[in-house]
Amino acid sequence: MVAASSIPGWKRGDGLLLVLTGAGISAESGIPTFRGAEGYWKVGSRNYRPMELATHEAFVAAPDDVWGWYLYRRAACRAARPNAAHLALAELERALGGDFLLVTQNVDGLHLRAGNTPERTYQIHGNIDFMRCSLECTAALAPIPSSFDFWEKGRSPSAAEKALLVCERCGAPSRPHVLWFDESYDEPRFRFTSSLAAIDRASMLVVVGTSGQTNLPNQICGVAARRRIPFVVVDPEPTPFSELALRVGGTFLRGAASDHVPKLATALVAPA
Ligand code: APR
Repeated sequence: MVAASSIPGWKRGDGLLLVLTGAGISAESGIPTFRGAEGYWKVGSRNYRPMELATHEAFVAAPDDVWGWYLYRRAACRAARPNAAHLALAELERALGGDFLLVTQNVDGLHLRAGNTPERTYQIHGNIDFMRCSLECTAALAPIPSSFDFWEKGRSPSAAEKALLVCERCGAPSRPHVLWFDESYDEPRFRFTSSLAAIDRASMLVVVGTSGQTNLPNQICGVAARRRIPFVVVDPEPTPFSELALRVGGTFLRGAASDHVPKLATALVAPA
């Protein structure tokens, strides 16, 4: 059990608690991480290196392959259920209300399905359940139809299926609503400015299950360290963020999200 006293310097009422999550929080829901041994970026095929599929360049060159890959990953997300760590963060938002904000790199939508609200959940890498116009004729998102809920690995959409993956407004092909490696964060789609503004005023940062390889999370953790706000990292392995937290007097809870996050959430809402 994590006692409230083991979270140095923070008590309910101190202001905004920012929680940053990565693929590790969904690992126990059965969704592979990216850089673990069975991770999406590690397990390839004869035909492609998976990381190369997560680019706009690949989408332009081979849209059917890219769609097939995302439909397969989306099917894995649809089949998964939120775990105890997701549910604990939803409970934490209910308890803290406007003093809670979740920034997630995960596109699996499990935080929303667990009960976190879209207003207080910044999906900074998108959401795999949605598509948008590849020609940017509109910023609107459209849900991917449920007929794609089951998808075998390696299958690309047929012509009839591709006709369902088009922009309703202009008829151009749609694309998955995810941030690719050769693209940049922005505010309207990925809440870039809002995320940075949030860490500027946050009173505490909790980081769960991320290996620290992406830009905006690095900026968030860097600001937290500079501001010397309470900084807690949950991960089974040391990461650049756990090392940073320890360097600035923070806490590293080494272990699985489903073990630590519910206890941490209980401790955080305990009366001071
Ligand atoms: N509980 C908590 N953390 C876990 C668990 C678990 N049960 N299992 C694994 N982890 C940790 C790993 O130790 C690792 O530190 O989760 C982290 C997963 O790291 P990555 O696979 O690199 O995933 P993430 O950090 O979310 O990747 C960031 O990279 O390619 C992009 O867009 C993709 O959003 C993704 C981003």
